Amino acid sequence: MTVARHGANRSSRIAGFHRKPPQERLDLVASFAGLDAATAAHLADMGNLPPQLADKMIENVIATMNVPIGIATNMKVDGEDVLIPMATEESSVVAAVCNAARQTYDAGFTTSVSGTLMIAQVQAVEVPDPYAARLRLLEKRDEIKAICDACDPLLVKLGGGFRDVEVRILDTLGGPMVITHLIVDTRDAMGANAVNTMAEKIAPHIATWSGGRVFLRILSNLADRRLARAHAVWRLEDIGGESVRDGIISAYQFAEADPYRAATHNKGIMNGISAVILATGNDTRAVEAGAHAFAARSGRYTSLTRYEITKDGHLSGSIELPLAVGLIGGATKIHPTAQACLKILGVTTAERLARIIAAVGLAQNFSALKALATVGIQSGHMALHAQNIAIMAGAVGDEVEAVAKVLVERATVRIDIAQEVLDIIRR
Ligand code: MEV
Repeated sequence: MTVARHGANRSSRIAGFHRKPPQERLDLVASFAGLDAATAAHLADMGNLPPQLADKMIENVIATMNVPIGIATNMKVDGEDVLIPMATEESSVVAAVCNAARQTYDAGFTTSVSGTLMIAQVQAVEVPDPYAARLRLLEKRDEIKAICDACDPLLVKLGGGFRDVEVRILDTLGGPMVITHLIVDTRDAMGANAVNTMAEKIAPHIATWSGGRVFLRILSNLADRRLARAHAVWRLEDIGGESVRDGIISAYQFAEADPYRAATHNKGIMNGISAVILATGNDTRAVEAGAHAFAARSGRYTSLTRYEITKDGHLSGSIELPLAVGLIGGATKIHPTAQACLKILGVTTAERLARIIAAVGLAQNFSALKALATVGIQSGHMALHAQNIAIMAGAVGDEVEAVAKVLVERATVRIDIAQEVLDIIRR
């Protein structure tokens, strides 16, 4: 491989780039950007994603981006212990889930889903009589069902397929639009391919039946027929008493009232959720778009979680959001790391995966709010980091907190110090 000086070839018009193998593309890029040999060699190492596979997943591949996968421990979801792989570049995210889960381990998280229904939208414009067209389209329900189900007989065989049709009339800058929603049960698939195919297939019929022109035919990421929910109770004695509980509730109330705070609050939730979505090869952007759109569904962007006080004075937390995830199709099925992560999770249905992910989002949020409402996020980060280091040094049970406390007090979060402290504690 030749590595040229930066600027040797500075044209981004590279004929046939997409047809070249990854290494040849990398050589061209190295020449364009003046990469040194060590950097180019670093990029050429694709780790545990075979280059031939990477090359099939997206276009113009030259390298892969490694992100660490951490395991969230202590999680019990619907009575079942589960180890959760999380792929993230951000420290404290995994520790936050472990800590929140540890503080409610006995009861764990209770979860549910509203279903596995996805929505595809078909946009019709210039419809002469939108209200009558709406009724004409609704009357075609059986024909629409037949056309949609014929697109994916396997999905139908697996118990999925077309469920319903909705027609909305939107008042837009370009006049009224007739928007048809296909409601489709996509079962263990995220469903984008299935519903997009159906939307494209039905579109010419909608043009005929509505008398208008059809443009867009695409799923909606506001998957509000595919909500996942999780709930947990943190007992006062496990979280540090009433003042911690009240601080968390007040933090939630702040996010509930203020979009500036809600954006950060929900970002923290997505720290946990997106990490599991990524580890399992699912579509992080689809879930993020759905979550934020759902958070704004009332017309005012607000918190995805809620906190209340139980009749016994404990802290009750809950979360509800769209979680369009799948176990089949796309990277989920072909990425070997995603497959391994799904094995670790032990999930056999997309529904179970969504439920676990909702619990992770709630756990993440609990830890962030607890830190913010008490010691602050900086020392919170340090404390979480110190606990990780204590665990890495071999601390177990109560030793973890004890070692971490000394590390934080000394403001030196190092594994060698953690080992020394652990020796002293054990002696
Ligand atoms: C940082 O990535 C996430 C937090 O800002 C979340 C929050 O403020 O709730 C700590």
